[in-house]
Amino acid sequence: MESLMIEGGHRLNGTVRVSGAKNSAVALIPAAILSESTVTIDGLPNISDVHMLCALLEEIGGTVSFDDGTVIVDPSKMVSMPLPNGKVKKLRASYYLMGAMLGRFKQAVIGLPGGCHLGPRPIDQHIKGFEALGAEVTNEQGAIYLRAKELKGARIYLDVVSVGATINIMLAAVRAKGQTIIENAAKEPEIIDVATLLTSMGARIKGAGTDVIRIEGVDELHGCRHTIIPDRIEAGTYLIAAASMGEEVLIDNVIIQHMESLVAKLREMGVNLKTSEDQILVTRSEGLKSVDIKTLVYPGFPTDLQQPFTSLMTKASANGIVTDTIYGARFKHVDELRRMNANIKVEGRSSIISGPVQLQGAKVRASDLRAGAALVIAGLMAKGVTEVTGLEHIDRGYEGLVDKLKALGANVWREKSQQNNRIDQYS
Ligand code: EPU
Repeated sequence: MESLMIEGGHRLNGTVRVSGAKNSAVALIPAAILSESTVTIDGLPNISDVHMLCALLEEIGGTVSFDDGTVIVDPSKMVSMPLPNGKVKKLRASYYLMGAMLGRFKQAVIGLPGGCHLGPRPIDQHIKGFEALGAEVTNEQGAIYLRAKELKGARIYLDVVSVGATINIMLAAVRAKGQTIIENAAKEPEIIDVATLLTSMGARIKGAGTDVIRIEGVDELHGCRHTIIPDRIEAGTYLIAAASMGEEVLIDNVIIQHMESLVAKLREMGVNLKTSEDQILVTRSEGLKSVDIKTLVYPGFPTDLQQPFTSLMTKASANGIVTDTIYGARFKHVDELRRMNANIKVEGRSSIISGPVQLQGAKVRASDLRAGAALVIAGLMAKGVTEVTGLEHIDRGYEGLVDKLKALGANVWREKSQQNNRIDQYS
């Protein structure tokens, strides 16, 4: 087992370049299944979720190469191979194989997805959408079977605003006959990115990024070249790290509009930052004040940043409340932060952080991807050395984390660790 070691207390200085968006990447790669010819995607992050999806595309007969962030997928020889077990179980986003394979082959067998444990994560809205398009969907021994004679456009109202369901229904609907209207659709930037790729492949989609998406199905989709958007959550993670320990940190390759809720909250706390066209400069910020945040669907404050933000709040004066309205149980990082001397209580869907405190280095475990980011930020702020285990979660979503932090002057390294005696209840 490997650990990430962080010697806290070093101020961060320099530039960090943001990678391609993980949550786009994991949908763009399956979307390539829908094409009859080669799809090239540039700027993909070098993370395990991307490699896992590339391997899954190879399992169904695709030819896939990954070189310096560019993935080239030749989907021409793909077949509707059942994928009930194995790699599909390792990542949440394998659910996008359902929409993409249903769209192309009118059938698919996909094991129920894994991914971060953030409390219940149902996929009923995805299934409701597939059924509305004419698919028969059954759950047989932990795998979802989807079959359709043909897919027919439909009007689908999502009962819950869901990124995954919006994208998944879009993937199937681009190859359905006639018009599909998704109402109460999610509006996250990743949805626009996927719609852009599909449009370049010949799909006809209007309204992505609003809560009503209209899709006219087409008979065939073709290859294209697409550049992914920057990762707003990775950018936010470094922004929070810079707010906590930055001397002068430039975050490069961001779409500022994607960062508005976080930037507003950091300003409210008293963080010194300046934005330009595609960069954010953070300078040393002292005397931070606590704020309250409530996670909401985009453009509200992202749930994926509430855990890292909680670490920063330990440094701020007075009490701050973080409420997660998306995942009410996304608080496994709190016990770990407490080991590091944080003063945090969880009540229902909220954590209440009392500060300021000086965090202390400790041995902690990342229970999920963003909990990992929270612990890394806490480690940067802590006195002494912090050992973070559970790196498989961090590796799923952060490209070159150690190198990026080192380049900013942090003292971080990976090392083989002793067998962890704590019971691993998460993986
Ligand atoms: N939900 C349902 N039924 C469904 C789908 C979702 O009840 O059929 C509920 C969920 O339980 C949750 C809410 O709706 O309470 C929103 O879930 P959503 O479907 O939007 O989440 P997701 O698509 O599974 C993506 C990201 C997550 C991110 C959420 C929210 C990917 C692969 N994952 O998940 O990212 O937290 O949207 O923005 O895109 C991460 O990057 O760390 C991560 C967990």
